[in-house]
Amino acid sequence: MPKLTILVGTMYGGALDVAEQVKPLFEQAGYDVDISEQPSVDDVSQASDLTLFCVSTTGSGDFPGNFVPFIRSLKDQSPSLAGLRYGLIALGDSSYGDTFCGAGRALDELLQDHGAHRLGERLEIDAMETFMADDAAVPWVEEWIDAQKLKVA
Ligand SMILES: Cc1cc2nc3c(=O)[nH]c(=O)nc-3n(C[C@H](O)[C@H](O)[C@H](O)COP(=O)(O)O)c2cc1C
Repeated sequence: MPKLTILVGTMYGGALDVAEQVKPLFEQAGYDVDISEQPSVDDVSQASDLTLFCVSTTGSGDFPGNFVPFIRSLKDQSPSLAGLRYGLIALGDSSYGDTFCGAGRALDELLQDHGAHRLGERLEIDAMETFMADDAAVPWVEEWIDAQKLKVA
């Protein structure tokens, strides 16, 4: 069974909730799913078949605390991520202006700088518009699985 790893960056649990809500959709599509709130460089450099990031933004466009060591190691070690195929769900709030989804956007750029390949567009969930992030994430993931032909079962 192919493996999907969901790597979560969260301050208040919203991004983790999204990961937990979309997990069954991937299981139904034939994946063995792991959720991690303590990602390591190994998770992305020895990538599983598919990786999904669910990352919120804090501070002024900053990464959530649990995600900071991962980003630091990625910048320090600068591994090739040519084998990484990923999707990205960014959570933010447009009332923060220029730093809207800053962490998700910065992560996307960093991954691509290291050769990773994003499947489809990034989803940005705006807390100003969407009260429950799952309401936006679940249909997006359903469509993503279809559009990217990810179904294996
Ligand atoms: C102190 C604080 C700072 C925030 N800074 C930003 C920001 O700079 N940009 C942004 O898009 N959202 C920002 N947000 C909004 C959060 O990213 C948003 O509420 C998100 O849904 C939280 O997800 P989480 O529960 O996974 O942490 C901030 C929220 C808080 C409480």
